[in-house]
This record gives sequence, C-alpha cells and structure tokens, in this order.
Amino acid sequence: MLKLKLLGTGTYLPELILTNEMLSQIVETNDEWITSRTGITERRLSSGEPTWHMAVRAAEKALAASGLAANDLDLIVATSVTPDYFFPSVSSIVQDEIGAANAFCFDLNAACTGFVYAVDLAARYLNTGDIRNVLVVSAENVSKLTDYTDRATCVLFGDGASAAVFSAGSPDDESCLLASHLGTKGEGGKYLVSQALKINHPFIENDQVWPDRFGHDKGHNLTMEGNEVYKFAVNAMTESIKAATEKAGIKLAQIKYIIPHQANSRIVDASARRLKVKSAQMISRVSDFGNTSSASIPICLDEIIRDDRLKRGDLIAICGFGAGLTYGAAILRY
Ligand code: COA
Repeated sequence: MLKLKLLGTGTYLPELILTNEMLSQIVETNDEWITSRTGITERRLSSGEPTWHMAVRAAEKALAASGLAANDLDLIVATSVTPDYFFPSVSSIVQDEIGAANAFCFDLNAACTGFVYAVDLAARYLNTGDIRNVLVVSAENVSKLTDYTDRATCVLFGDGASAAVFSAGSPDDESCLLASHLGTKGEGGKYLVSQALKINHPFIENDQVWPDRFGHDKGHNLTMEGNEVYKFAVNAMTESIKAATEKAGIKLAQIKYIIPHQANSRIVDASARRLKVKSAQMISRVSDFGNTSSASIPICLDEIIRDDRLKRGDLIAICGFGAGLTYGAAILRY
C-alpha cells in the first residue's frame, strides 16, 4: 500500500463535435453500424488547438481544484502519443505555461495505458519522501494520427485532455494506492502502429534502406487489427483488475467504480460480464467522447469527482490497455 492522495482533477475538451452522421458523409459508414459495434455516437475534435494547449488548460483546472500553487509542484508527468514536438516534452511546456518552476518534467508513453502507468509512477515517487506533489496530465489529439479515409479506425477516436494532482497526504489520511498490476506484451506491438520519422540523411545508400519492422506503410496514420486488439483488451482488463484486487486483498464488490479505458462500449460490457460486476460499477463515457487514448480514464475520473459521485474513502479501480501492447490496473482509495 502506497500513500497517495488525489487533490484535484480537471479536463479540457475541444468544442468541435464530430457526429456519426458527419463521418457517414466522408466514409462508407452509418450511425447504426458505429453505435452497435462501438457504442460511440460522437467525439470531440481539436479545431487546431495543439496538444500542449489542451494539456495546459486541463492542468490549470486540476491545480485550481487541488488548492495548490504551481510552485508547489515537484514533478509533472505528461502522457501523450500525440505530442506537438519530439522535444521539448509536453510536460516541459506545461511547466512553463503554468509557472511550475520547481517541478522536474518528463513525458511517458504507454499509449492508452499512460495515465495508469503515470499514477503508479507518481505513487512510487511520492512514497520515497523526496517529493511532495505531482501533476499527471494526459493530453491527446488522436485526430493527428487518424486516417479519415479508413472507416475501420476513424470512427473510434477523439481528442481531449485531463489532469490530476496527487500528494502523499498527511499521516492520518486513508487515501492510498492499494495495489497495481502493470504489464506489456511487446509481441502484440504489430496490432496498433503509428510510425515516427524514418532515417533520412545524405549519406544513406539505397541498399541500406530497412523495411518497416511491422510492415507498416501508412506513416503517422495509425493502423490497427481491430479483432486482435479487442480480444487482447477484454483479457487484459479482466486479468489486470483481478490481479490488482488480489494483491490489494479486497473483493471486486468493494470497489465503488471501475474506470476502464474508453475504447469501445462492447469491450467495457464484455469485461463487466467476465468480472461479474454490476454495469453501474463501470464508468462509461465512450458514447460522447470516443477513444481519447490516455486522456480517457482521467476524463471519467474528473467527471465522477465533480458531480460528487466519488466520496473520500471510496475505492476505485482504473484500468487501461493500448498500443505496445500495454495494460494495467490500479486500485485507489480516494
Ligand atoms: N462502418 C461500416 N462498416 C464497417 C466499418 C464502419 N465504420 N468499419 C468496418 N466495417 C466493416 C468491415 O469492413 C467488415 O466488413 P466485411 O465483413 O464486408 O469485411 C465488417 O464491418 C466487420 O468488420 P469487423 O472488423 O469484423 O468488425 P468488428 O465487429 O470486429 O468491429 C471494431 C470492429 C474495430 C469496432 C472492433 O474490432 C474493436 O473495437 N476492436 C478494438 C479496437 C480498439 O479498442 N482500439 C484501440 C485500442 S487502444
């Protein structure tokens, strides 16, 4: 058990709404197919606001809710598969924009599982006693990597950002990270791919060109083997939640809310059935926001805190899966 107190959360969602109807104007699809196969009815898209901007807006809200000043932050971890620059990192830009001069900053790429990995990392840093306050910010413009001529993927994703401020709390606080279970299956990396830059300098000779490791030919645009990811997702979610609850020594029924990665409502429902948890225990906002990668879990977390569904002392599980293939679950007492 690691001391971990969630002090405040905040979300930024772009205003532009992309409906199923709008998608059916540009690819051969329809609302019936999309809602029945994914549960998604609309998603938000950036109108051009960069990832760093969304991260900053979410971070400002989380900081305001936490009651801390920017100078109180010791560490900023940003999670994003869609940064605006290779460097500086999203977290460095957030630090500059919010004026968190005392924080050291780095980005973490665990794809859609990024927030779960970052919370686990924050808890471990905080429990060293060396630092007091951590901002985790997850910001994604998945639209950057989306091919809007590919109906199999373009209906799934959306943009958004969300942030959370954590501290170790005071000695009498009950808030904590009870247990986590993180994993990666590198052999499944080929199922979700987006390419970065290729080697291209003036001294390269034609016969030295390497084929793409994954046979990927769509550049930054993501490719996905949906059925493989689906099977992986349901297994990864159920196994990691079971492993984390076992480690924590609690029963699933004691968890008030499970916040799964929001990729597809069928994945959420299938996981709930396998875990034999009530559907009211599973938080799902996939219908309105689609898959916002690492931002999807904190967006839901922020919502249940702001509408007062989550009370101090409640247990929650956060659980993600994504490219890598990464997966993981963490159980927190709020
Ligand atoms: N509209 C209409 N038809 C579509 C379509 C769309 N947007 N996308 C695919 N289809 C078609 C396919 O071409 C296929 O047609 P065919 O039978 O003539 O070949 C048919 O629908 C069935 O496709 P299939 O891929 O088997 O559908 P599915 O029921 O497996 O659902 C996904 C596809 C992508 C929704 C599902 O596999 C999924 O959600 N996977 C996980 C994806 C995910 O979570 N990714 C992110 C991980 S972080």
